[in-house]
Amino acid sequence: MRRPIIAGNWKMNTCRESAAALIDGLKGEAAESRSDVEVIVCPPFPYLSLAAEKVAGSCIQVGGQNAWHEDAGAFTGETSCQMLKDVGCQWVILGHSERRQINGESDSLINQKTHKALSTGLGVILCVGELLEQREADQTEAVLEEQMTGGLAGVTAESMANVVIAYEPVWAIGTGKVATDEQAEAAHAFLRSWLEKRFNLDVAAATRILYGGSVKPDNAAGLLGQPNVDGALVGGASLKTELFIPIIQAGAASVA
Ligand code: 13P
Repeated sequence: MRRPIIAGNWKMNTCRESAAALIDGLKGEAAESRSDVEVIVCPPFPYLSLAAEKVAGSCIQVGGQNAWHEDAGAFTGETSCQMLKDVGCQWVILGHSERRQINGESDSLINQKTHKALSTGLGVILCVGELLEQREADQTEAVLEEQMTGGLAGVTAESMANVVIAYEPVWAIGTGKVATDEQAEAAHAFLRSWLEKRFNLDVAAATRILYGGSVKPDNAAGLLGQPNVDGALVGGASLKTELFIPIIQAGAASVA
């Protein structure tokens, strides 16, 4: 059985005070050592240490939103995987569509980062997803295949135990335009069959595939109830405890 993951990608939001308040608000709900769902928060870099200190003793885990693929050196503005680990992260989001689009990240750069994160001992949340025009041109599967092939090049079946895939259709991110349950399930089923072909049946059966893109309390149960949807990567709704907690509960209910 795949344990659902509900991850909050805070993007470039919060301040020291609101970051602390957000985690305090989640702790009541997620603090008991729940075995039904994994909860991850991904604050901006400046608040990672604070987040890691605040979640201590709860089951909430912390992730970075990006990392660089070198250990140290003259890489102004970058953050190494080791630094993320050092401040208490267990996870890193890689290949988010905002980094692909705004920062021009390629599949090969994302692949280098993936290898570095895995060798550093971080779990990777690898994001893939098509643009609206690609969906409309019936290219969704081709795009997903290209991003998976590039992003996971050279990754072994054993290492896949530390990789989570996030399917985030770009047209659904921050738009309020959520994929239908059927659209999400079809893409997730395609990704799982790709994992079986590229790795094996065990990897395909064990890998968590999260959906991301305008997940809210009112659509979470439908999405998370799909057989191949193993959790959610939540943007806007992860910034409000009154929205994020019901999504965590929907994740738990999806396996109850
Ligand atoms: P929204 O939930 O705000 O659409 O963002 C999704 C996302 O990009 C999560 O990584």
